[in-house]
Amino acid sequence: DEPPAEAAVPQAGDPGLLLLGRIGAVDPTDLDSYRAAGGYTALRRAISLGPSGVIREVTDSGLVGRGGAAFPTGRKWAGTAQRPEAPRYLVCNADESEPGTFKDRVLMEGDPFSVIEAMTVAGFAIGAARGYLYIRGEYPLALSRLENAIARARARGLLGKDILGSGFTFDIEIRRGAGAYICGEETAIFNSIEGLRGEPRSKPPFPVERGLFGRPTAVNNVETLVNVLPIVRMGGPAYARIGTGSSTGPKLFCVSGTVARPGVYEVPFGATLRDLIGLANTGAESPPEPRAVLLGGAAGGFLRGDELDVPLTFEGAREAGTTLGSGVVLVLDDTVDLPAVLVRIAAFFRDESCGQCVPCRVGTVRQEEALARLSGGTGDGSDIALLRDVGAAMRDASICGLGQTAWNAVESAIDRLGVFSDAPPRRSLPLTTAAPSTTKE
Ligand code: NAI
Ligand code: SF4
Repeated sequence: DEPPAEAAVPQAGDPGLLLLGRIGAVDPTDLDSYRAAGGYTALRRAISLGPSGVIREVTDSGLVGRGGAAFPTGRKWAGTAQRPEAPRYLVCNADESEPGTFKDRVLMEGDPFSVIEAMTVAGFAIGAARGYLYIRGEYPLALSRLENAIARARARGLLGKDILGSGFTFDIEIRRGAGAYICGEETAIFNSIEGLRGEPRSKPPFPVERGLFGRPTAVNNVETLVNVLPIVRMGGPAYARIGTGSSTGPKLFCVSGTVARPGVYEVPFGATLRDLIGLANTGAESPPEPRAVLLGGAAGGFLRGDELDVPLTFEGAREAGTTLGSGVVLVLDDTVDLPAVLVRIAAFFRDESCGQCVPCRVGTVRQEEALARLSGGTGDGSDIALLRDVGAAMRDASICGLGQTAWNAVESAIDRLGVFSDAPPRRSLPLTTAAPSTTKE
């Protein structure tokens, strides 16, 4: 007899998984349970390697940021560690708010000690004595699990002074967001922690030079940090052998939409979109046929249902004209009203724009209006031209990533999926019936 298809699906809690292996398999409230599953071996090894040894392993691993922008983590840590100014800070960006993204939530709720251990390793590497964990306000369970993990680690000497007898001092403070998407932008986090309005700052200077309280700061996403634990344990070169040459390691993807088993999946970079959607449809007798997939989130782009062989790597996504972003895979079948989805995305950006710069503040409003006309049947080709103009202005002239990417998904839906291709041609300008008189009385 064939084994049931379910057995082939790597589940959270499968010890073979580097990131999700402990989820559901350890008690997330119990430090002993975490330690029995290998917890805190990475910190011990990190201390024996020394800060520059840890940074070397992370650099050799090829790890890049998993929040969406894929900046090399080793470079970020080295850039922070080499600054002469003190103190230096670590910020864990847990303000996971990209629509369709819920991977960090799974890590924080199911394996909170790993986030705390990884922050301690990062603090050790960059020479920070204090780390801030900035968590999305809408994640109350993750918050309480992390608070508990910090208290237990502190009680056992795994946070605080002279950690594991190494002389290294490090502690973590949690700050909660209050519902603003823009506060996940790294410099808006600084403002929020400092008690200022949550608006992005212009970059450069980058946080590695001038970040929180004007000091050198490394900002890392939750998933990025959790990857550091296997890197330190197995060594950077061994980790770099997972995935592909330029996209190394495992990656978490958040699969949602018209699939049988929406959820967070861990696959090595290089698996195809088809493989991933297949995992999320395991056991389904006749899974829905994808018409389109939004890859990378609202800031990413749509692929057509016949483009599922794209490899899930940074370079593969780039060649396909999109990005992996924070790992969003939103699958849409024929039953989905795509124009309505676009209006919803536009409304989200309009709502979440902080309003600090004109292209984004005004552009997101104009974008939503034009999409509402097109989806309501009163728009025409001039609205598509308007969307292109406004989109280019937002992309070129906005201060931060929100405005710069607010048109990405809409553009790909128009150009790749052919949404609104049946819109009437541009309206001509209304003709004046009475020409103004040029002769004076
Ligand atoms: P970015 O490209 O400006 O920066 C990425 C990181 O690299 C930052 O930490 C930045 O400080 C650092 N960096 C860049 N150039 C540097 C240099 N020359 N020296 C030192 N450090 C440097 O991207 P940004 O705006 O931080 O992030 C945009 C991404 O965030 C988008 O791709 C989007 O997918 C993602 N995103 C994720 C969300 C989530 O909930 N996970 C929410 C919203 C956006
Ligand atoms: Fe604010 Fe938008 Fe400008 Fe970013 S691009 S600073 S969200 S107005």
